[in-house]
Amino acid sequence: MTLKNAALSVREKAYAPYSNFKVGAAIRSADGEVYSGCNVENVAYPEGTCAEAGAIAAMVAAGEQELSEVYVVASSPQPVPPCGGCRQKLAEFGKRDVKVTLATVDGAEFVTSIGQLLPGAFDASHMEDV
Ligand code: THU
Repeated sequence: MTLKNAALSVREKAYAPYSNFKVGAAIRSADGEVYSGCNVENVAYPEGTCAEAGAIAAMVAAGEQELSEVYVVASSPQPVPPCGGCRQKLAEFGKRDVKVTLATVDGAEFVTSIGQLLPGAFDASHMEDV
């Protein structure tokens, strides 16, 4: 299945009764497998999780730890950019040049990369002792 179709399909399963804003994310791991996730909200609002977090969790649970491509889709006028927390989560498992496609259900797409989404990212090198 293409990343686009996986993201569109999983978006339908989103649990978003509070925002009514369903998001689907699909990622390809380094070995070519596709993993997907949707947002799962909670009545205690901060406990909700984003679509990207779900897809990453599915990849890690399957034993993969390297992203090679990302696709995120929502029903909005413009392709929706990932939140700050999701940018950091993507940066944890993907190199700066990993392609990220942000899309609307109507077919508009904006292509970017993990590095462009999170310039100056905090990473393990910043924790080295001086
Ligand atoms: N949301 C995502 O799942 N991913 C994004 O990239 C942006 C926002 C979700 C979180 C929440 O359930 C809803 O969209 C509204 O913020």
